[in-house]
This record gives sequence, C-alpha cells and structure tokens, in this order.
Amino acid sequence: MYVAFPLSYFSLLTLRIHAWSATTYIVHMDKSFMPKAFASHLSWYSSIVDSLRSTGNPESSPSLIYSYDSGAHGFSAVLSAYELEKLKMSPGFVSAYPDRAATIDTTHTPEFLSLNSYSGLWPASNYGEGDGKTITGKTLFPATALVQDLALIYNKTLSACNSSVLLSNAPGGNGIIICDNTGSLYTQISEITVSRVRAAIFISDEPEPSGMPCPGVVISTEDSLALIKYVTSNKNAQASIKLQQTILGTKPAPTVASYSSRGPSPSYPGVLKPYIMAPGSLVLKGGYIFLSGNFTMLSGTSMACPHASGVAALLKGAHPEWSAAAISMNFTQKQIMTITRSKSYNCSNPSSDLNYPSFIVLYDPNMSKTTVKTFRRTVTNVGEGSATYKVKIAQPEGSTITVSPETLMFGKTYEKQSFSVTITYSSNSGGEVPFGEVVWVEENGKHNVRSPVVVSPVVSF
Ligand SMILES: *[C@@H]1O[C@H](CO)[C@@H](O)[C@H](O)[C@H]1NC(C)=O
Ligand SMILES: *[C@@H]1O[C@H](CO)[C@@H](O)[C@H](O)[C@H]1NC(C)=O
Ligand SMILES: *[C@@H]1O[C@H](CO)[C@@H](O)[C@H](O)[C@H]1NC(C)=O
Ligand SMILES: *[C@@H]1O[C@H](CO)[C@@H](O)[C@H](O)[C@H]1NC(C)=O
Ligand SMILES: *[C@@H]1O[C@H](CO)[C@@H](O)[C@H](O)[C@H]1NC(C)=O
Ligand SMILES: *[C@@H]1O[C@H](CO)[C@@H](O)[C@H](O)[C@H]1NC(C)=O
Repeated sequence: MYVAFPLSYFSLLTLRIHAWSATTYIVHMDKSFMPKAFASHLSWYSSIVDSLRSTGNPESSPSLIYSYDSGAHGFSAVLSAYELEKLKMSPGFVSAYPDRAATIDTTHTPEFLSLNSYSGLWPASNYGEGDGKTITGKTLFPATALVQDLALIYNKTLSACNSSVLLSNAPGGNGIIICDNTGSLYTQISEITVSRVRAAIFISDEPEPSGMPCPGVVISTEDSLALIKYVTSNKNAQASIKLQQTILGTKPAPTVASYSSRGPSPSYPGVLKPYIMAPGSLVLKGGYIFLSGNFTMLSGTSMACPHASGVAALLKGAHPEWSAAAISMNFTQKQIMTITRSKSYNCSNPSSDLNYPSFIVLYDPNMSKTTVKTFRRTVTNVGEGSATYKVKIAQPEGSTITVSPETLMFGKTYEKQSFSVTITYSSNSGGEVPFGEVVWVEENGKHNVRSPVVVSPVVSF
C-alpha cells in the first residue's frame, strides 16, 4: 500500500562491461583543473580516457561511458587496473570506485536509501518536503484499487473527519482527504465511508483498524510529517494511493485473536475450552457486494466456522468410521451418551468427568487445603493394528499429576483402554494459571496423543 507523490523520477542505468579484464569505474574529477583548450567537460574527459590507452597492448581499450556534470563532476569509464593507475596521475583526478549493480527495491524506498527518521539526510532535508515520496501505510480495503493523482485536501476543519455532512459539502471534496490524528479512527473511517469523499489518508498510531470500507490507508504520525509538510507548502498537492499489496508472513502467527475466549466457559467451567481453533480474523470473503469489489473482510465465528467444518469434513472423509462426537465438540444429549454410555450425565448433573481429551482442576483460592481430583478416561486405538503407548507427563507448577496405568497396550484397531489421571493441587505461588500435559507416546511409532491440563482458581462471574 503506497501513497506516492508525483514529481521526481530516478532512472537506473545498466552499464555494460566491455573487456573481461576491465571494470566500470565511477570517476570524480575536479573541474577547476580543466585546461582552457577544452570546449566542454565532455571533451576533456574523452581526451583523458583516450590518453590512458597503452599503445603496446591491443587489449587496452579504455572507453568513456557517461559524463556527469550536475550532481557530481566526472565520468564513468571501462578501465583496466593498469589504466586506472594511470588515470590517478591525471591532473584533476579526485577519486574512483568500481560501479556496482544496484537492485531495484522501490517497495522499501527509505530502507533502500538507508534513510532513517531520526538523523542524517532524511530529517536534514525536511523529509524531502514530501514531494515524490512514497509512504507505506496499512489498509484493509478489500479491493484492488488505484486512486490516481487526486488533489490532497488538508484543512483543519475538514481534517477532523468527524462530520460526513461537512465533508460531502466541501468544495473540491472529491479528492483525497487527510484525516488528523484526533478523535477515534473508527469514527473517522465511518464518517468518510458515508461521505462523498473519494479517498482518505488517516493519520493514526492505533493498531490496525478492524475494517476499511472506504478506499483509505492509515499512516503513522511519524510518516505524516512529510505529508503535512508537502500539502501545506504546495497549492496543487496531489497524491495517488495504490491499494494492491498483501503483506504475508507477519509474526507472530498463528496467534489466538484477542477477542477469542480463553475459556473455561462461564456457563460451565468444568470443561476446558477452546476445543479447536480456526482462522477467523479478518478473513477476506466473497459474496458481499460493496463498492466496486465483491469481497470484504469479516471476523468472528462465522468466518472460523467454515474452516473448522471443512477440517472436520476432511477428517470424516479420511476416517468415515470416526464418530461425529470424536470430531465435533457440539454434543447433543445423544452424543454425550455415545461417549459416557450413561444417562447419569446430563446438564442438570454436570460433572467434569466427561470423556474429554483435556483436564481442568478448579480449586477454591480462599481455601488453603490441597485439592485432589481424579478423572477416568477411555481411549480408542484408531491407529493401525496393535500399539503400545507410554505416558509422559509435564507437571503444572504447584501440582502433581499421576496416571495409572502408565502403559496402554492395544491388541488391534478400535480396541479401547481406560486410565485414570489424579491431579493434586497444593499451591500456586506464581499467580499465573499453571498448565501441564499428559501425553501418550506410541512406542516405536509416530503417534503422540496429548491432553492439556489446567489448574485454575474458581472465578466467580
Ligand atoms: C469535530 O472535531 C472538531 C475538532 O476536534 C470539534 O471542534 C467539533 O466539535 C467536532 N464535530 C463533531 C460533529 O463532533
Ligand atoms: C475548510 O473547510 C471548511 C468547510 O468546507 C471551509 O468553510 C473553510 O473555508 C476551509 N478552510 C480553508 C482554509 O480552506
Ligand atoms: C462482482 O460480481 C459480479 C457478479 O458476478 C460481476 O458481474 C462483477 O464484475 C464483479 N465485480 C468485480 C469488481 O469483480
Ligand atoms: C449444536 O448442534 C445443534 C444440533 O445438533 C445445533 O442446532 C446447534 O446450532 C449447534 N450449536 C453450535 C454452537 O454449533
Ligand atoms: C439428569 O440426570 C439425573 C440423574 O443423574 C436424573 O434424575 C434427571 O432426570 C436427568 N435429567 C434429564 C433431563 O435427563
Ligand atoms: C474468595 O473470597 C473473596 C473475598 O471474600 C470473594 O470475593 C470470592 O468470591 C471468593 N471466591 C470464591 C471462589 O469463593
């Protein structure tokens, strides 16, 4: 995502290397040494390069490629090491260095130019007055779009971006409005979206917006300095916004969204949640007609659900014999019975000893005595043929886990075995909720079956 201000263009020249033994050098010259006889710097440089040719050597073919007369005085030339040494004796010679290949890296212009915001050329040049500059910002605008050469609008009244009426009635209001870092970004985005403004640049250091229904981009306060400088010093300030780049591979990822429940569920803290997690944040989805695009970003369970269902469907396809209960965790009374094989478990008689693949011990933080909980679990060998599993335990801090038996031997596929897990809580000095795990490790096999363990104080909601 770029905001680019039109103006200067850099062009990169590719220099050809002529002789295998020669190198292209950039040569700096002191022009005050130019003899009056030469009509131009170009003829002086040509004569210098010609004079480097060694008559006895047919390989010697020094050649002038380019002459510089504005940014620097000098020329570039293809020279052998010997010719370079000879050049160094010429009157007016200042310095020479080999030309090197530069890769075009204009997506990271400031880095490419080794500029930083705090010291050196960048602040010294007043951030280049903004003109010709590319600023990278963030957006979630779901369509590929190019907002080209639109007038930049920056006006204290309008740039509060808190009144769609004011924005829509502003003269020249169909340009790109710059929204100041005042008030809430969310409100500004909403006001811009319902206004007639074509596009907006929001100045904000808030975390990424959760949506961007208008063609817009968020830039940092730091980056805004150059923009404001440019727009306030140019009557015909213009900008283009290119909404085309997807940033992949951001870290940390995957990560649990801030709004995801860590569980346990207040309605029943005895069961550790979540059972399963799926991508559900800012998912680009089709089918929602908005502006010119047919896509939008949405977050939440309605986005995670298709992912989880899809995985469940794939799992069912690969293992048609697995029960839905083993795949889905939305149990009906019937499904609960398929696991517990007893009517004694229902919602009027909650127990934490369902055959869940997780364990949670809830203790009363107001009582100083130890809490002991024993769970029974039955597991089915869904692997191929016979298998032996040995338990491996990671103890949660302040508690001990014992498992009995410590080895489970299965003679064949679908055979069931039971075991018990006893968790003894004695203290929690750390203040954090401790985690542990019970892992069944297949001997000479590749399967590990892990159950998380949590020891948590009862929290009254
Ligand atoms: C918009 O913001 C400006 C400046 O912060 C404030 O003076 C004005 O009252 C606000 N208007 C609305 C409609 O909130
Ligand atoms: C800023 O915009 C407001 C509302 O359109 C307008 O009344 C005012 O004259 C503008 N100010 C400048 C300096 O252009
Ligand atoms: C959106 O979908 C409609 C119907 O399929 C199609 O006609 C239209 O071209 C699409 N718009 C874009 C911007 O792709
Ligand atoms: C759970 O399953 C029942 C039917 O089995 C369904 O009506 C309900 O919507 C499901 N709930 C969730 C949260 O998926
Ligand atoms: C729940 O289980 C108890 C026995 O544990 C039983 O008395 C009660 O009728 C059951 N309730 C339902 C709705 O099945
Ligand atoms: C523990 O004691 C505090 C303070 O008396 C009380 O607010 C809290 O509800 C108690 N917690 C439990 C789990 O009883």
